[in-house]
Amino acid sequence: MIKSIIRGTGKFVPPNLVTNQDLEKFMDTSDEWIQKRTGIKQRYWISEDSPMGASDLGFEAAKQALDAAGWTAEDLDFIIFATLSPDIMFPGGGCLLAAKLGLNSTPTLDIRQQCTGFLYGFATADAYIKSGLAKKVLLVGGEVHSSGLDKSTRGRDVTVIFGDGAAATCIEGVDNEERVGLLASVLHTDGNYAASLMTELPASNLFNRNPPGLPLDDPRYFPVMDGPSIFKKAVRLLPKVTHEVLEKAGIKLDQIDLVVPHQANKRINQAFGQFLKLEDDKIFHNIEKYGNTTAASIPLALHEAIEQGRTGKSGETVLFVALGAGLTWGAAIYRFF
Ligand code: ACO
Repeated sequence: MIKSIIRGTGKFVPPNLVTNQDLEKFMDTSDEWIQKRTGIKQRYWISEDSPMGASDLGFEAAKQALDAAGWTAEDLDFIIFATLSPDIMFPGGGCLLAAKLGLNSTPTLDIRQQCTGFLYGFATADAYIKSGLAKKVLLVGGEVHSSGLDKSTRGRDVTVIFGDGAAATCIEGVDNEERVGLLASVLHTDGNYAASLMTELPASNLFNRNPPGLPLDDPRYFPVMDGPSIFKKAVRLLPKVTHEVLEKAGIKLDQIDLVVPHQANKRINQAFGQFLKLEDDKIFHNIEKYGNTTAASIPLALHEAIEQGRTGKSGETVLFVALGAGLTWGAAIYRFF
């Protein structure tokens, strides 16, 4: 039976380090508030002198993942690009990324599922692989949040949490009878809560998407979030979807060696761990270094967990879990080959 196996991972963040103290210079916030409420100490943002798009960051991460897999771009037969911050309105980042990789006919697909982009992407890669549509898939999550954030005090609840970055995963279909690869995934969406985390403009549902005399300080051009309500939803739905995916995979929580969750807020992941009675070292955190890199967050954490030897050995089992704008949420269980 064909299994979807991770062959290589890669990550890239822009060089411009932004500490919490840097943010204090242009908005009413404090290192103490940010660390206490989110666990974040710093993040990386693109710089004014060398701006980059999500596909540029994705390209750097993709090269690393391809090297780690021992593949060239020409080996790929499908590319999935997950982002909420595409370089341009259209075409999608997958098209731009494929061109940067020197490809001119490999199919690409963009995913707009925000913090669950990796989960939707992995499930899609798995479906393409198992249906025989693809054998070697590149899954990239990349975000440039910083160029679209409200850097005044008005936007402080959102702006302090987001970081720019990308991460990539090479996934291959392998014929194997053991219980390895993507064992199960569960995905959900509830668009009734779309307004609790969104960037409203530019919007195609307006008669004039870009009206003349556009007031660019209009808050609808910036992401807005009902943070406390999303926090409460995350703490309730992440354990619930974990039980769902465990049941689907037919395994018990104590068979999970490491949880690699979306990095939205360290307190959310700690509450998740307490709810499921997990020991602290069973949950991987790197939000303190990168903030919330949205579609890049889980693959970036996975890359670092493997690098640090926290997971990656044959037979080890990881749980991925995320909730974000949409609302979208989900979980997946992966066992290393
Ligand atoms: N610095 C200082 N004070 C701040 C800041 C800041 N950066 N941001 C908000 N505050 C203030 C508020 O104004 C408020 O002040 P008040 O009590 O005087 O009214 C106070 O701090 C508390 O604000 P809350 O919003 O209640 O703070 P909370 O503890 O909920 O933390 C946070 C806010 C970090 C946003 C949290 O709600 C959260 O993490 N929510 C979930 C985020 C999430 O998971 N999003 C989904 C993924 S992202 C995606 O999908 C793209």
